[in-house]
Amino acid sequence: MVCGKRPVLVYVSPLAVAIFLLALVLAVHFSCMAYKLDALHQFLALPEPYRCPTCPYCNGSRSPAPRFVKPDPWTFWNSIGQPKFVVAPMVDQSELPFRALCKKYGATLAYSPMFHSKNFSESPEYRRWQFSTDPTVDRPLFVQFCGHDGDTVLAAARHVEDQCDAVDLNLGCPQGIARRGQYGSFLMERWDVIHTILHTLSVELKIPVTAKMRVFEDEGLTLRYARMLRDAGAHVIAVHGRTREMKGAETGLADLNMIRKVKQHITSVPVIANGNILQFADAVSNLAATGCDAVMSAEALLWDARLFSNPPHPVLTGRNFQCDKITRLAGVSTAIEYMDVFVRRFRVDLGFCKAHIFKLVHHSLEVFPEMRLRLGDYDCHATSLDEFVTFLRDLHALEVTHGPDGPYTKRPKGPKAAVSTDGSSFEVTAMLLPVMPNSVPLPLPLTTMGNSLASSSLVCEGTGRAPFSLPRRPSIFFSDTQNG
Ligand SMILES: Cc1cc2nc3c(=O)[nH]c(=O)nc-3n(C[C@H](O)[C@H](O)[C@H](O)COP(=O)(O)O)c2cc1C
Repeated sequence: MVCGKRPVLVYVSPLAVAIFLLALVLAVHFSCMAYKLDALHQFLALPEPYRCPTCPYCNGSRSPAPRFVKPDPWTFWNSIGQPKFVVAPMVDQSELPFRALCKKYGATLAYSPMFHSKNFSESPEYRRWQFSTDPTVDRPLFVQFCGHDGDTVLAAARHVEDQCDAVDLNLGCPQGIARRGQYGSFLMERWDVIHTILHTLSVELKIPVTAKMRVFEDEGLTLRYARMLRDAGAHVIAVHGRTREMKGAETGLADLNMIRKVKQHITSVPVIANGNILQFADAVSNLAATGCDAVMSAEALLWDARLFSNPPHPVLTGRNFQCDKITRLAGVSTAIEYMDVFVRRFRVDLGFCKAHIFKLVHHSLEVFPEMRLRLGDYDCHATSLDEFVTFLRDLHALEVTHGPDGPYTKRPKGPKAAVSTDGSSFEVTAMLLPVMPNSVPLPLPLTTMGNSLASSSLVCEGTGRAPFSLPRRPSIFFSDTQNG
């Protein structure tokens, strides 16, 4: 017999367990964040200029004397014509015919897509497939690479150094593939690696090296990072005003203020501002807001490659805007010119081109969904350039004969947004009002809407409340493909 010992049953409420687990998860999360930030803050304490003990040019195992005489950053910038409007690097999308098209319409500098340095250095097929250029239309040109090893990036860069004006290092790619390959924005905590790559290229190449960075949340760290890039030899710095975490649904608005601070801080090299461009007016206002030497656009150019020429009927992103017949016809005409003039002249993989066509004529495909199916059915290996051109001419003819004059009807997706301004919440239909009369805003939930503050205003329908402030990071509509 067991005396005096009775089992004690303690009732633990499931709610208490849930609260405990939640608290545990939050505690771990915040301590990890604090740890990460702490680790990053150690960079602030590094001596300047940053020198890396494992860099062969810093530790004396190779001579740091440049193999070729190069102009200083500003002389270099002047020698390429002080470009103002820049086509961003875009994987599979900033290929030669697209760059040439953008240059015809106002772009004054273009980046190639990002190439993997290992593949590029080792595989002639990869080079032929991914890279082509033509000096008559394609200068100035920066060719971008990713990688985590100085000698590999150098080996890749040697293949292009006679065909471009600078070689750029991708420090922005936030995708999982970059995490696995240890490149792009996943080097933001590996200053030794970044430094070594830039230092290697700046010593060994005939042409300057440049860098395209993302920002940190922390201003001091961002400025220190930019100084490190400059000191490692970057002749131009492009600043994408988003952090690495700002991608996909978390993309949000670029921080132009942070870009401005980098520009004010780094005076010895030209700085290019990147982010928040929807149309030409934004390019102008971004230049004014950041004080940068040039402004770079990616996504908006995919919708309208004529953006930098301030076109009379600009085609805006189809995710938020619908447009009238004149504007839709302008989009189809741009696609025809891209295919029939530029791709015909500079042949590239038609897979790149098909992706361009989908965006350039998106608005007409909304009106004629059967044409979307037809385009989707084309197998790029079995379809000729002429068939694509015929498709586009058919689409143009359809628009002329059957396209509605006004904007087409498109139903907004998702629920109305509940937005809080001063702590109180209320239901609104938020609309983005563009300055162009020929584009009509779609009522969209605020949470799926990005905007271009320079040219747009938000109104609340049916609430009688004045325009409200945006949440700090509204998801931006034109950037679900943020790659760099
Ligand atoms: C389709 C696509 C491909 C991209 N590829 C690259 C790339 O190869 N290298 C890079 O540095 N950034 C890349 N990016 C990021 C852009 O260069 C740019 O930094 C980003 O889109 C922000 O500019 P935006 O607001 O004008 O779109 C890509 C963006 C898009 C939309």
